[in-house]
Amino acid sequence: MSEPIKLAAFCGSLRKASFNRIALNAFAERLPAGTTIETIEIGDWPLYNADIQAQGFPEKIQAAQKTMLDADGLVLVTPEYNYGPSGVLKNAIDWLSRMTPQPFAGKPVALFGAAGGILGTARAQYQLRQILVFLDGRPVNKPEVMIGQAQNRFSADGKLTDDATGKLLADLGASLVLHIRHAKAAAQHVK
Ligand SMILES: Cc1cc2nc3c(=O)[nH]c(=O)nc-3n(C[C@H](O)[C@H](O)[C@H](O)COP(=O)(O)O)c2cc1C
Repeated sequence: MSEPIKLAAFCGSLRKASFNRIALNAFAERLPAGTTIETIEIGDWPLYNADIQAQGFPEKIQAAQKTMLDADGLVLVTPEYNYGPSGVLKNAIDWLSRMTPQPFAGKPVALFGAAGGILGTARAQYQLRQILVFLDGRPVNKPEVMIGQAQNRFSADGKLTDDATGKLLADLGASLVLHIRHAKAAAQHVK
């Protein structure tokens, strides 16, 4: 039996019927056996302000850091707003990036997103990949999961209806878990 894997996820859309949230649920349902995933809710975090930080990080943000540090890998799901990731996700990243230990460092990260346009969050995801360079995260390169024309891939009752997207999400989950297992094996090797 291989060791269980823990993931921590963020969803960059706060909309109740969010396609990105449905895609995150579909990703979770397709993860390899033995993998658990916890979504960190970020909708009620304050806007980043160094003066608030100077009084101590808000409890919710400290709890998020702990969940991330306990996790073996991270999942960032973003809509595309004006060719970039959503402000709510960027705000969460900005808060977490100021913490010690900085909880993105060294973590394998899966990225995906759904948008109305045909490029399906490609531009937003490449911005996130750039941000992850500074944060020293380990983004999974492939498969890229860019869910374009999202309105055609989900049903009115909140289900993913597009099999090709479901397969990509499953492949991304498998790839993330493989990256995590390789990283763990390498860490054992250098001990
Ligand atoms: C402020 C704003 C900016 C947007 N900019 C883009 C964009 O740059 N590219 C795109 O494909 N869709 C854009 N959209 C449409 C979103 O992709 C669409 O609303 C999508 O459903 C949002 O994800 P959600 O369903 O998870 O909330 C934008 C929507 C909003 C509200």
